[in-house]
Amino acid sequence: AAESPFTTPLKVPAPLRPVRLAGHDFYRLTTREADVTLLPGTTTRIRSFNGAMSPLIVARRGRPVVIEQVNRLSVPFSMHLHGGHTPQRSDGHPMNQVKPGESRLFRYPNEQRAATLWLHDHSHEDHAENIYRGLAATYLLTDDFEEQLPLPKGRYDVTLQLRDAKFQGDGRLDWDLHGFDERHTILVNGRPRPYFEVAARKYRLRLVNTANERPFLLQLGDGEEFTHIATDGGLLPEPVPTRVLQLWPGERQEIVVDFSRHGVGRKLVLSNTYPYEGESGEVMRFDVVREASDPSRVPGKLRPVPDLGTSAVEREFTMSFDAKTGQHLINGRPFDMHRVDIRPRLGVAETWKIVNGDGEYGIPHSMHPHLDAFKVLDRNGKPPAPGEAGLKDTVTVPAGEYARIQVRFTEHTGLYMYHCHMLSHVQMGMMGQMEITR
Ligand code: C2O
Ligand code: CU
Repeated sequence: AAESPFTTPLKVPAPLRPVRLAGHDFYRLTTREADVTLLPGTTTRIRSFNGAMSPLIVARRGRPVVIEQVNRLSVPFSMHLHGGHTPQRSDGHPMNQVKPGESRLFRYPNEQRAATLWLHDHSHEDHAENIYRGLAATYLLTDDFEEQLPLPKGRYDVTLQLRDAKFQGDGRLDWDLHGFDERHTILVNGRPRPYFEVAARKYRLRLVNTANERPFLLQLGDGEEFTHIATDGGLLPEPVPTRVLQLWPGERQEIVVDFSRHGVGRKLVLSNTYPYEGESGEVMRFDVVREASDPSRVPGKLRPVPDLGTSAVEREFTMSFDAKTGQHLINGRPFDMHRVDIRPRLGVAETWKIVNGDGEYGIPHSMHPHLDAFKVLDRNGKPPAPGEAGLKDTVTVPAGEYARIQVRFTEHTGLYMYHCHMLSHVQMGMMGQMEITR
């Protein structure tokens, strides 16, 4: 279905309603198949949380969330809160799956700073397809610090889940682990290249890339300026005015766009300036349709980044494709559930050099350690751009380049994963296990 762009309105998900118990918010998330309309006039069978595409959970720092996951799919599922500071038993180890027909409780303490996180499957061998078929939810964590800032709030704070898909003419999803460059339909919150009617005022937009492999290099209108305010681990130290925004798989970027600069009647296209061959690059359109008062503003300082101390350990991770076996490797080895690759000590800062060994093949890779966010120290020896000055949990390294990050694991011990967030690469081995010890 080569539907014309900007004919479907954006769907802004309402937060799921928890059961408010004494010590926590309780949700029951049933993973099941559902028939929904994504493309107008057709029905698509998806794998869903509670029957919907792109649901939203809003949580508050200091108030735990408990999710009972009931698996009514015919495949195993392992729920992972991406970016969550989560005890091991609730972190969704790829081999510790909830089998079809089973259910399990996941507990998220929410003792970390405000950030846009996301929930997705992590079941080994199935998660790329499960996420592709719809199992991705946004999980907004708020806190007092962020709430007292005068940033846009309420209906002017909007989550946008960006991804791609390949549909057959009848609306069915086409799945091929390696066919990512054929997924030409861009979905925003499950709608194909939607339009969004906005007021002439500031909006906070939380962009989440839930695609298996697709990068978005975003631009607004003809290159209008907007303000970058947050990344994976929450607010940047200060706002960064920019005209381009990179959003790689697994990443979150938050921006404030002031539509009053453009005025009622303007239509601004958000486009991907890095489309695959034969694609137009259009992602969605903002239609400025009404005036509105605007008490919000972006303060000159946002949130300082914590000092992680001096690194006591250095590690190097070379990410590379093995053309002979078709596997993706970290330091020459594919994932092995029986092997612990590294043993970081609790509370000890480490510097990781992430080397993309695929200059020759032109394949980008990323590094996503579970449990704690990190700082990007440098890229190819140069300081990172101001938009990377906040806390990150996923860093992409273009082919042949390297980046150094500093990470310190805190509070929880046990077995956790680190991996590339290009999901076909993970499935083909690009994942390691770390045991955090005292
Ligand atoms: Cu979003 Cu282990 O991943
Ligand atoms: Cu990779």
